[in-house]
Amino acid sequence: QSVFSQQHLLCLQDYTPDEILQLLSLAAKLKQEQKLGIPHPILQGQTLAMIFSKPSARTRVSFEVGFHQLGGHALYISANEIGLGQRESVEDVARVFSRFVDGIMIRTFKQSDVEGLAKAGSIPVINGLTDDFHPCQVLADMLTVYEHKGQIAGLKMAFVGDGNNMAHSLMIISSKLGMDITIVCPEGYDPQEKVVAWAKANAAQSGSKVEIEHDPMKGVAGADIVYTDVWSSMGQEAETEKRRVIFAPYQVNAALMAGAKADAIFMHCLPAHRDEEVTDEVIESKQSVVFDEAENRLHAQKAVMAKLMNR
Ligand code: CP
Ligand code: NVA
Repeated sequence: QSVFSQQHLLCLQDYTPDEILQLLSLAAKLKQEQKLGIPHPILQGQTLAMIFSKPSARTRVSFEVGFHQLGGHALYISANEIGLGQRESVEDVARVFSRFVDGIMIRTFKQSDVEGLAKAGSIPVINGLTDDFHPCQVLADMLTVYEHKGQIAGLKMAFVGDGNNMAHSLMIISSKLGMDITIVCPEGYDPQEKVVAWAKANAAQSGSKVEIEHDPMKGVAGADIVYTDVWSSMGQEAETEKRRVIFAPYQVNAALMAGAKADAIFMHCLPAHRDEEVTDEVIESKQSVVFDEAENRLHAQKAVMAKLMNR
Protein backbone atom coordinates (compact mmCIF):
# COMPACT_ATOMS: atom_id res chain seq x y z
CA GLN A 1 0.00 0.00 0.00
CA SER A 2 1.46 3.34 -1.07
CA VAL A 3 1.74 6.12 1.48
CA PHE A 4 0.42 9.61 0.75
CA SER A 5 1.50 11.82 3.62
CA GLN A 6 1.25 15.27 2.01
CA GLN A 7 -0.91 17.92 3.69
CA HIS A 8 -0.48 20.69 1.10
CA LEU A 9 0.56 21.18 -2.50
CA LEU A 10 3.03 24.06 -2.34
CA CYS A 11 5.76 22.74 -4.64
CA LEU A 12 6.18 19.27 -6.15
CA GLN A 13 9.74 19.09 -4.89
CA ASP A 14 8.09 18.10 -1.56
CA TYR A 15 6.47 15.04 -3.19
CA THR A 16 7.93 11.60 -3.86
CA PRO A 17 7.71 10.19 -7.39
CA ASP A 18 5.24 7.63 -6.03
CA GLU A 19 2.97 10.37 -4.62
CA ILE A 20 3.01 12.15 -7.99
CA LEU A 21 2.12 8.93 -9.79
CA GLN A 22 -0.71 8.31 -7.30
CA LEU A 23 -2.15 11.73 -8.19
CA LEU A 24 -1.87 11.03 -11.92
CA SER A 25 -3.53 7.67 -11.62
CA LEU A 26 -6.38 9.09 -9.51
CA ALA A 27 -6.76 11.92 -12.05
CA ALA A 28 -7.12 9.38 -14.87
CA LYS A 29 -9.73 7.44 -12.85
CA LEU A 30 -11.76 10.57 -12.01
CA LYS A 31 -11.57 11.65 -15.65
CA GLN A 32 -12.93 8.32 -16.82
CA GLU A 33 -15.74 8.36 -14.25
CA GLN A 34 -16.70 11.90 -15.18
CA LYS A 35 -16.85 10.97 -18.89
CA LEU A 36 -19.06 7.98 -18.01
CA GLY A 37 -21.34 10.18 -15.89
CA ILE A 38 -20.42 8.36 -12.65
CA PRO A 39 -20.68 10.92 -9.82
CA HIS A 40 -17.90 11.04 -7.23
CA PRO A 41 -18.98 13.37 -4.39
CA ILE A 42 -15.86 12.59 -2.35
CA LEU A 43 -15.82 16.03 -0.70
CA GLN A 44 -19.55 16.41 -0.08
CA GLY A 45 -20.35 19.44 2.07
CA GLN A 46 -16.83 20.87 2.06
CA THR A 47 -15.87 24.44 1.14
CA LEU A 48 -12.80 25.67 -0.74
CA ALA A 49 -11.63 29.29 -0.63
CA MET A 50 -9.91 30.37 -3.85
CA ILE A 51 -7.73 33.47 -3.41
CA PHE A 52 -6.48 35.23 -6.55
CA SER A 53 -3.90 38.04 -6.66
CA LYS A 54 -3.43 37.58 -10.43
CA PRO A 55 -5.85 36.99 -13.31
CA SER A 56 -6.91 33.48 -14.35
CA ALA A 57 -9.25 31.63 -16.70
CA ARG A 58 -8.27 27.94 -16.45
CA THR A 59 -7.29 27.84 -12.79
CA ARG A 60 -10.35 29.63 -11.54
CA VAL A 61 -12.85 27.72 -13.67
CA SER A 62 -11.26 24.29 -13.29
CA PHE A 63 -11.00 24.56 -9.50
CA GLU A 64 -14.55 25.87 -9.11
CA VAL A 65 -16.07 23.29 -11.46
CA GLY A 66 -13.86 20.50 -10.13
CA PHE A 67 -14.74 21.18 -6.50
CA HIS A 68 -18.44 21.28 -7.41
CA GLN A 69 -18.07 17.89 -9.13
CA LEU A 70 -16.54 16.54 -5.92
CA GLY A 71 -19.65 17.63 -4.04
CA GLY A 72 -18.29 20.82 -2.46
CA HIS A 73 -18.67 24.56 -2.81
CA ALA A 74 -15.88 26.92 -3.92
CA LEU A 75 -15.68 30.67 -3.20
CA TYR A 76 -13.77 33.11 -5.40
CA ILE A 77 -11.99 35.84 -3.43
CA SER A 78 -9.72 38.47 -4.93
CA ALA A 79 -6.65 39.18 -2.82
CA ASN A 80 -7.58 42.88 -2.95
CA GLU A 81 -10.81 42.19 -1.09
CA ILE A 82 -8.91 40.58 1.76
CA GLY A 83 -5.95 42.92 1.41
CA LEU A 84 -3.69 39.88 1.81
CA GLY A 85 -0.51 40.93 3.57
CA GLN A 86 -1.69 44.54 3.79
CA ARG A 87 -5.10 44.88 5.41
CA GLU A 88 -4.39 41.65 7.25
CA SER A 89 -1.32 39.47 7.62
CA VAL A 90 -1.04 36.21 5.71
CA GLU A 91 -0.86 34.39 9.05
CA ASP A 92 -4.09 35.91 10.40
CA VAL A 93 -5.93 35.20 7.14
CA ALA A 94 -4.76 31.58 7.41
CA ARG A 95 -6.06 31.23 10.97
CA VAL A 96 -9.41 32.89 10.21
CA PHE A 97 -10.00 30.89 7.04
CA SER A 98 -9.13 27.68 8.89
CA ARG A 99 -12.24 28.32 11.05
CA PHE A 100 -14.53 28.76 8.02
CA VAL A 101 -13.43 26.57 5.12
CA ASP A 102 -11.86 23.16 4.50
CA GLY A 103 -9.11 24.15 2.09
CA ILE A 104 -7.45 27.10 0.34
CA MET A 105 -6.29 27.42 -3.24
CA ILE A 106 -4.15 30.49 -3.82
CA ARG A 107 -2.62 32.22 -6.85
CA THR A 108 -0.22 34.97 -5.91
CA PHE A 109 3.24 36.46 -6.42
CA LYS A 110 5.43 35.26 -3.57
CA GLN A 111 5.93 31.56 -2.87
CA SER A 112 6.64 32.57 0.74
CA ASP A 113 3.03 33.83 1.12
CA VAL A 114 1.71 30.41 0.08
CA GLU A 115 4.09 28.74 2.52
CA GLY A 116 3.03 31.22 5.23
CA LEU A 117 -0.66 30.34 4.76
CA ALA A 118 0.15 26.63 5.02
CA LYS A 119 2.27 27.10 8.12
CA ALA A 120 -0.14 29.29 10.07
CA GLY A 121 -3.39 27.57 9.09
CA SER A 122 -4.71 24.11 9.88
CA ILE A 123 -6.21 23.23 6.47
CA PRO A 124 -4.70 22.09 3.12
CA VAL A 125 -3.22 24.85 0.93
CA ILE A 126 -2.88 24.37 -2.82
CA ASN A 127 -0.59 26.53 -4.94
CA GLY A 128 -2.49 27.78 -8.00
CA LEU A 129 0.66 29.55 -9.35
CA THR A 130 3.29 31.80 -7.86
CA ASP A 131 6.21 33.62 -9.44
CA ASP A 132 8.26 30.48 -8.75
CA PHE A 133 6.05 27.42 -9.32
CA HIS A 134 2.88 26.11 -11.00
CA PRO A 135 2.48 22.56 -9.67
CA CYS A 136 -1.16 21.99 -10.70
CA GLN A 137 -0.33 22.84 -14.31
CA VAL A 138 2.50 20.31 -14.58
CA LEU A 139 0.40 17.51 -13.08
CA ALA A 140 -2.11 18.15 -15.88
CA ASP A 141 0.79 18.27 -18.33
CA MET A 142 2.15 14.87 -17.32
CA LEU A 143 -1.32 13.32 -17.56
CA THR A 144 -1.52 14.76 -21.09
CA VAL A 145 1.90 13.42 -22.04
CA TYR A 146 0.92 9.97 -20.77
CA GLU A 147 -2.32 10.02 -22.76
CA HIS A 148 -0.56 10.97 -25.98
CA LYS A 149 2.71 9.05 -25.63
CA GLY A 150 1.77 6.11 -23.38
CA GLN A 151 4.79 6.80 -21.17
CA ILE A 152 6.51 9.57 -19.20
CA ALA A 153 9.88 8.11 -18.19
CA GLY A 154 12.31 7.84 -21.08
CA LEU A 155 10.91 10.78 -23.06
CA LYS A 156 12.60 14.15 -23.63
CA MET A 157 10.92 17.52 -23.14
CA ALA A 158 12.35 20.80 -24.45
CA PHE A 159 10.91 23.81 -22.64
CA VAL A 160 11.58 26.91 -24.74
CA GLY A 161 11.16 30.24 -22.96
CA ASP A 162 11.70 32.02 -19.67
CA GLY A 163 13.34 30.04 -16.85
CA ASN A 164 10.64 30.96 -14.32
CA ASN A 165 7.58 29.26 -12.81
CA MET A 166 6.66 26.89 -15.65
CA ALA A 167 10.27 25.94 -16.34
CA HIS A 168 10.86 25.31 -12.63
CA SER A 169 7.82 23.10 -12.12
CA LEU A 170 8.45 21.18 -15.35
CA MET A 171 12.07 20.56 -14.30
CA ILE A 172 10.94 19.23 -10.94
CA ILE A 173 8.22 16.90 -12.19
CA SER A 174 10.14 15.58 -15.19
CA SER A 175 13.27 14.84 -13.16
CA LYS A 176 11.20 13.07 -10.50
CA LEU A 177 9.42 10.94 -13.10
CA GLY A 178 12.46 10.02 -15.22
CA MET A 179 11.82 12.32 -18.20
CA ASP A 180 14.80 14.22 -19.69
CA ILE A 181 14.34 17.98 -19.83
CA THR A 182 16.22 20.75 -21.57
CA ILE A 183 15.41 24.35 -20.66
CA VAL A 184 16.04 26.43 -23.78
CA CYS A 185 16.26 30.08 -22.74
CA PRO A 186 18.10 33.32 -23.52
CA GLU A 187 21.16 34.01 -21.40
CA GLY A 188 20.14 35.86 -18.27
CA TYR A 189 16.77 34.07 -18.15
CA ASP A 190 18.05 30.77 -16.76
CA PRO A 191 16.07 28.92 -14.09
CA GLN A 192 17.05 29.57 -10.45
CA GLU A 193 20.17 27.71 -9.37
CA LYS A 194 18.38 26.22 -6.38
CA VAL A 195 15.80 24.59 -8.66
CA VAL A 196 18.44 23.36 -11.11
CA ALA A 197 20.23 21.69 -8.18
CA TRP A 198 17.00 20.02 -6.99
CA ALA A 199 16.21 18.79 -10.49
CA LYS A 200 19.72 17.42 -10.99
CA ALA A 201 19.51 15.56 -7.68
CA ASN A 202 16.08 14.15 -8.67
CA ALA A 203 17.44 13.14 -12.07
CA ALA A 204 20.35 11.28 -10.48
CA GLN A 205 17.73 9.20 -8.62
CA SER A 206 15.41 8.62 -11.57
CA GLY A 207 18.10 8.18 -14.21
CA SER A 208 17.11 11.17 -16.35
CA LYS A 209 18.89 14.31 -17.55
CA VAL A 210 18.46 18.04 -16.86
CA GLU A 211 20.13 20.52 -19.22
CA ILE A 212 20.15 24.26 -19.83
CA GLU A 213 20.75 25.30 -23.45
CA HIS A 214 20.83 28.75 -25.04
CA ASP A 215 20.73 27.58 -28.68
CA PRO A 216 17.09 26.83 -29.64
CA MET A 217 17.86 24.33 -32.43
CA LYS A 218 20.29 22.36 -30.25
CA GLY A 219 17.83 22.42 -27.37
CA VAL A 220 14.89 20.88 -29.25
CA ALA A 221 16.95 18.16 -30.99
CA GLY A 222 15.52 14.74 -30.14
CA ALA A 223 12.58 16.19 -28.16
CA ASP A 224 9.32 14.24 -27.87
CA ILE A 225 7.62 17.30 -26.39
CA VAL A 226 8.20 20.97 -27.22
CA TYR A 227 6.68 23.21 -24.55
CA THR A 228 6.51 26.99 -24.40
CA ASP A 229 4.96 29.74 -22.28
CA VAL A 230 4.49 33.50 -22.47
CA TRP A 231 7.61 35.68 -22.67
CA SER A 232 6.29 38.13 -20.06
CA SER A 233 4.60 36.52 -17.08
CA MET A 234 1.90 38.10 -14.94
CA GLY A 235 3.60 40.86 -12.97
CA GLN A 236 6.26 41.48 -15.67
CA GLU A 237 4.08 43.64 -17.92
CA ALA A 238 6.54 46.56 -17.77
CA GLU A 239 9.21 44.39 -19.44
CA THR A 240 7.04 43.29 -22.36
CA GLU A 241 8.75 45.34 -25.08
CA LYS A 242 12.25 44.45 -23.94
CA ARG A 243 11.40 40.77 -23.68
CA ARG A 244 9.83 40.70 -27.16
CA VAL A 245 13.26 41.52 -28.57
CA ILE A 246 15.28 39.19 -26.33
CA PHE A 247 12.99 36.18 -26.78
CA ALA A 248 12.34 36.58 -30.55
CA PRO A 249 14.89 33.87 -31.52
CA TYR A 250 13.06 31.47 -29.15
CA GLN A 251 9.70 31.54 -30.94
CA VAL A 252 8.28 28.04 -31.43
CA ASN A 253 7.53 28.11 -35.16
CA ALA A 254 7.39 25.40 -37.83
CA ALA A 255 11.16 25.60 -38.38
CA LEU A 256 11.90 25.02 -34.70
CA MET A 257 9.30 22.21 -34.44
CA ALA A 258 11.05 20.56 -37.40
CA GLY A 259 14.17 20.36 -35.24
CA ALA A 260 12.38 18.09 -32.72
CA LYS A 261 11.31 14.47 -33.36
CA ALA A 262 8.89 14.03 -36.27
CA ASP A 263 6.17 12.81 -33.89
CA ALA A 264 6.82 15.47 -31.22
CA ILE A 265 3.82 17.04 -29.52
CA PHE A 266 3.48 20.77 -28.83
CA MET A 267 2.37 21.96 -25.39
CA HIS A 268 1.57 25.35 -23.83
CA CYS A 269 0.02 26.06 -20.42
CA LEU A 270 -2.03 28.91 -22.03
CA PRO A 271 -2.93 31.71 -22.37
CA ALA A 272 -0.90 31.87 -25.60
CA HIS A 273 0.30 34.93 -27.44
CA ARG A 274 0.18 33.90 -31.07
CA ASP A 275 3.08 35.12 -33.15
CA GLU A 276 5.07 35.85 -30.03
CA GLU A 277 6.17 32.64 -28.26
CA VAL A 278 4.30 30.38 -30.71
CA THR A 279 3.04 30.80 -34.26
CA ASP A 280 -0.58 30.26 -35.13
CA GLU A 281 0.60 27.52 -37.49
CA VAL A 282 2.19 25.47 -34.67
CA ILE A 283 -0.53 25.92 -32.05
CA GLU A 284 -3.22 25.00 -34.58
CA SER A 285 -1.24 22.04 -36.01
CA LYS A 286 -1.96 18.33 -35.49
CA GLN A 287 1.05 18.19 -33.17
CA SER A 288 -0.59 20.62 -30.73
CA VAL A 289 -2.30 19.10 -27.66
CA VAL A 290 -2.96 22.39 -25.84
CA PHE A 291 -6.70 21.90 -25.32
CA ASP A 292 -6.34 18.36 -23.98
CA GLU A 293 -3.74 19.86 -21.67
CA ALA A 294 -6.12 22.62 -20.53
CA GLU A 295 -8.91 20.08 -19.91
CA ASN A 296 -6.61 17.98 -17.77
CA ARG A 297 -6.26 20.83 -15.28
CA LEU A 298 -9.76 19.85 -14.13
CA HIS A 299 -8.97 16.17 -13.65
CA ALA A 300 -5.52 16.64 -12.12
CA GLN A 301 -6.75 19.19 -9.58
CA LYS A 302 -9.72 17.05 -8.59
CA ALA A 303 -7.19 14.32 -7.75
CA VAL A 304 -5.14 16.80 -5.69
CA MET A 305 -8.20 17.98 -3.75
CA ALA A 306 -9.48 14.43 -3.24
CA LYS A 307 -6.11 13.31 -1.84
CA LEU A 308 -5.51 16.34 0.38
CA MET A 309 -9.03 17.03 1.62
CA ASN A 310 -10.57 13.57 1.98
CA ARG A 311 -9.45 12.91 5.54
N1 CP B 1 -2.51 27.88 -17.41
C1 CP B 1 -3.13 28.64 -16.48
O1 CP B 1 -2.83 28.57 -15.28
O2 CP B 1 -4.13 29.41 -16.96
P1 CP B 1 -4.86 30.64 -16.19
O3 CP B 1 -3.78 31.64 -15.90
O4 CP B 1 -5.91 31.12 -17.12
O5 CP B 1 -5.41 30.09 -14.91
N1 NVA C 1 4.49 32.06 -16.74
C1 NVA C 1 3.10 32.42 -16.82
C2 NVA C 1 2.22 31.22 -16.65
C3 NVA C 1 0.75 31.46 -16.79
C4 NVA C 1 -0.10 30.25 -16.58
C5 NVA C 1 2.79 33.50 -15.79
O1 NVA C 1 3.28 33.38 -14.66
O2 NVA C 1 2.09 34.45 -16.11
